[in-house]
Amino acid sequence: MAIKVKCQGKEFYIKTLNTMYQMKVDEFGVLRHIWYGADTDCDMEYLLDYPDVGFSGNIYDAQNRRNYSLDTLPLEYSGAGAGDFRCPAAEIVHSDGSNALDLRFQSYNIKKGKYSIEGLPSVYADEAEAETLEICLKDTSSGVQVVLKYGVLEDQDIITRSTVICNTGDTPVKIKKAYSLCLDLPYGDWDWVHFHGRHTMERVPERAPLIHGIQESSSHRGIPSHQQNPAALLCSRDCTESEGDCIGAVLMYSGSFQTKVEYSQLNQVRMVMGINPELFCWELNAGDKFYTPEVILSFSSNGMEKLSHSFHNVIRNNVCKGKYKLIERPVLINNWEATYFDFNEERLIDIAKHASELGVDMFVMDDGWFGKRDDDCSGLGDWFVNKSKLNGGLTQLVDKIKSYGMKFGIWIEPEMVSEDSDLYRAHPDWAIQIPGRKPTRGRYQLVLDITRQDVRDYVYKVISDILNSADISYVKWDMNRSISDWYTASLPPERQGEMQHRYVLGLYELLDKLTSAFPEILFEGCCGGGGRFDAGILQYCPQIWCSDDTDAYERTIIQYGTSFFYPISTVGSHVSTVPNHQTGRITPIETRAVTAMSGSFGYELDLNTLNDKEKAAVKEQIQRFKEYGSLIHGGKYYRLSNPSKDKFALWSFVSQDEVLVHGMVFRTEPNMLRCNVKLRGLDPNEKYALNGSDKVYTGKALMEGGVLLPKTRGDYFPVELYFKKL
Ligand code: DGJ
Repeated sequence: MAIKVKCQGKEFYIKTLNTMYQMKVDEFGVLRHIWYGADTDCDMEYLLDYPDVGFSGNIYDAQNRRNYSLDTLPLEYSGAGAGDFRCPAAEIVHSDGSNALDLRFQSYNIKKGKYSIEGLPSVYADEAEAETLEICLKDTSSGVQVVLKYGVLEDQDIITRSTVICNTGDTPVKIKKAYSLCLDLPYGDWDWVHFHGRHTMERVPERAPLIHGIQESSSHRGIPSHQQNPAALLCSRDCTESEGDCIGAVLMYSGSFQTKVEYSQLNQVRMVMGINPELFCWELNAGDKFYTPEVILSFSSNGMEKLSHSFHNVIRNNVCKGKYKLIERPVLINNWEATYFDFNEERLIDIAKHASELGVDMFVMDDGWFGKRDDDCSGLGDWFVNKSKLNGGLTQLVDKIKSYGMKFGIWIEPEMVSEDSDLYRAHPDWAIQIPGRKPTRGRYQLVLDITRQDVRDYVYKVISDILNSADISYVKWDMNRSISDWYTASLPPERQGEMQHRYVLGLYELLDKLTSAFPEILFEGCCGGGGRFDAGILQYCPQIWCSDDTDAYERTIIQYGTSFFYPISTVGSHVSTVPNHQTGRITPIETRAVTAMSGSFGYELDLNTLNDKEKAAVKEQIQRFKEYGSLIHGGKYYRLSNPSKDKFALWSFVSQDEVLVHGMVFRTEPNMLRCNVKLRGLDPNEKYALNGSDKVYTGKALMEGGVLLPKTRGDYFPVELYFKKL
């Protein structure tokens, strides 16, 4: 039993393998957060202090106790407008216009298994693998109830959080804010790490000590965005990869989100995370419920790599679904960087045929195969084969590809419409725009209003018609703009604030229906690369195109940041041509391969343009990826360097019997010592043999002394070291 309740139902302990989470209801019914950290096997309430702080008011029931203030106590889920002046976890406007929310404990419930969330993706688990705790809080003076849900995956050190707001009163209320997570930490010196970036440089970690006031990482773009990722870390100042305390939180949500970290007057920390409340307002009628998305939480007292391992495990096993979640993914070739829009059947066949000769499993036809689509100005929405490019239609192309022993995959961007398209001409009202205003274009395109059932039904029908029309094994679901001009004719003016969230719900409904109807198809998410790289999408698409930057050097930085939360199998990564199309950089083909192998592997160039030596290298890389695939996707991942700071980018995959070190040394200097890297995660008392040599080391030697990397030559020198335990 991971969940223990003591003291007549007033004390809650959630214990996982290595962690403990503690809450207590006090004499006023306030649910205080006591502890989230190592399992101390102790009631941690002794850490709470009750200072009398000026201008921190006192609840009425505390009478003359000036030291009892909601403004200074660690709270499990803070209300608003009732004496806690820190970030509220929820804010409700009642029918009289007031907005106080003073939450007090009502009841609790423990269930076997893991709860699910209506209309939203969430962590799933077998009954025996998980437990659920529900705690019901109620506003003192209205019918608003807040149910806090905790899903506990004990063996994985994972606790999930989500909230249900219920209107048990008889008048409607408005939800202005409803975060999924509120986490108060009244102790410790913390650094905050968030993952920022831009298109073609996503998820760069930035770590800084907390400063007083509120710091925020968020998106208003209708997608989680390239600019910020819905994930955050709080680390003790001394926390490294392998030592120190850290807490990680990942939001399973594919729309506008917000993480706020408040460092208060008493040096206490509050982190809230959930749907971005800006542009959000939800009308909750009497008797209705609102479900927030889920946050996945984990704590490690052994540094960040242990935390990453917990997230990798839970996302791979309990978030990703479907046939492909654990099996090896096909090595694919995608024609985007080889042809862009300029192709016809012969050109595609030529690329596919040569790729098949080198061992590639699947050909993916990217953007440009449909409607009038010779550039990005037109055609989106017209999901019918462009016969001037593919004169034999999809079936003829797919049959030819299959005759080379390859599978076939296809690119779609179902949420979009070009103004120059038959779909837009027939249904201009299906595009998101505000009446009387010119819409903002992004990559010349508009966004379909998938908050509307009729639009979703159309998209489902037209996409399933394509998928039924030929033997399609893979879909790349792209999305290439931020969303603005929020307005839908399907909601009355006073409910327009619901649209952003309804868009995400519509997206999930579509993804759910299509992935359920086509369970044999591997879906890969994409949003101009990694603009929607989140755990929500991963429930439907077990891999996501990580970034539109395919430069091997840049990718080491992007994939380093991605690895803090997301497992290697979820990272779509390809070898592309040189000079690289995004940066002009030239890196050796072997370097591009070891970098792309740290993901779901493929190629994105015309392999015909390679010389014989390079072709032989490609053939051999594919064989190696197949040989190491289960170690790469199933082993534990270790970040052995920080590519933004160190002279090399190195990482390793470690299983019971094998160790694979991959990466690159950025520059060769004359007269320099060979680089040395210390490995981690090995058995100190076992012996490991280095493949291709007669060298044998103890695990302890490799971890304490390290291993010398090969002598380098040139820049971006590739590294691959494979050890087998003897
Ligand atoms: C953005 C994607 O990230 C690319 O890989 C490619 O599919 C283009 N869109 C096609 O328009």
